[in-house]
Amino acid sequence: MTEMRTDQNKKEELQAENIRLNEEETAVVILDQTKLPGIREFLSLDTKEECFDAIKTLKVRGAPAIGIFAGYAMYVLAKQWEKLSVEEFIKKLTELGAYLNSARPTAVNLSWAVKRMLRVAESGPEKSDNSESAENRQRNAESVLTGQQTKEANSAAEIIARLGEEAKMIQAEDIAMCRKIAEYGLSVLKDGDGILTHCNAGPLATSCYGTALGPILLGHEQGMNLKVYADETRPLLQGARLTAYELEQAGVDVTLICDNMASIVMKNGWVDKVFVGCDRVAANGDAANKIGTSGVAILAKYYGIPFYVLGPSSTIDLDTPSGNEITIELRDPDEIKTMWYENPMAPEAVNCYNPSFDVTDHSLISGIITEKGIVYPPFEENLKELFS
Ligand code: MRU
Repeated sequence: MTEMRTDQNKKEELQAENIRLNEEETAVVILDQTKLPGIREFLSLDTKEECFDAIKTLKVRGAPAIGIFAGYAMYVLAKQWEKLSVEEFIKKLTELGAYLNSARPTAVNLSWAVKRMLRVAESGPEKSDNSESAENRQRNAESVLTGQQTKEANSAAEIIARLGEEAKMIQAEDIAMCRKIAEYGLSVLKDGDGILTHCNAGPLATSCYGTALGPILLGHEQGMNLKVYADETRPLLQGARLTAYELEQAGVDVTLICDNMASIVMKNGWVDKVFVGCDRVAANGDAANKIGTSGVAILAKYYGIPFYVLGPSSTIDLDTPSGNEITIELRDPDEIKTMWYENPMAPEAVNCYNPSFDVTDHSLISGIITEKGIVYPPFEENLKELFS
């Protein structure tokens, strides 16, 4: 189902409506990010295939956003099974979680949200402190795997109500976390700074403010003069289509550059800091983010520019020891060869390597900015400390 809107230039719409439930809470409504910036099209999704496809084809994208979306998707789809026994319901929900989780492998937020929803279905709501500890996450993940049930529900309807609450809580927490990340991030910026960013880690990739763009949007709101260089971010152009759009809509001074221009703007002395998002941060601080990020980090090191990774603590995966163990998503070569051009830009049969993410080595990262504070090296030690 498609709902077209035309006159939407309002920042609050970007922030609040990119993922939400419809009024009856029977569908998840998303702003289709593949159509931006030209068309603002809202999609109302109520089948598991539509939800899977939305993640896979990046209609909804950005690590925190796909976690929030998966929570809502599990809730609305589970509502269709109200008549099932608790046992059958949990079985179907587990299958649904695995199916949605298989849509994209790199961002940990997707599996994190799926596990959280399953845990709530099986064990009942837990006290959420907005920021599960690594230990809690481990314990909870284990209880899902072992099927251990601490607060068994009496009916599918009861579980559905829990799922609704939890999905809304995931989004509310994300909004609060992004605000905190924005505040911590702002503490390393000063008036007049030039900031280079890669991909899109703005409100569209979360629920509000975003991660890497959060401090910039907050600083701008407070009257700071910040200048942003947005890498266009090949092959899917999230920087050109989404970051440039969000910053321009907010009135921030933004200049779009091709990915291979990062070096010259750094050499020109126009970049004081690099801010990027993340899809998974390993226990040693290695950070997976959109393809091209590690090249930007290497350049920043060369030019002596601080390189910050910004993300919620749900993106930190202490169960993954280093970047070597992070699965990198490979995508359709047509994203490179044909997708953005009237005519194909490459020979039809040419081999293509199209990894969606790369891993920035922790030695290139100046700090990881989370809602709980800024983590500095040594990351192995300090990330563990963050959850203790
Ligand atoms: O493939 P995408 O567009 O989902 O990749 C997204 C990124 O790499 C973002 O920078 C990351 O998810 C952080 S979003 C706050």
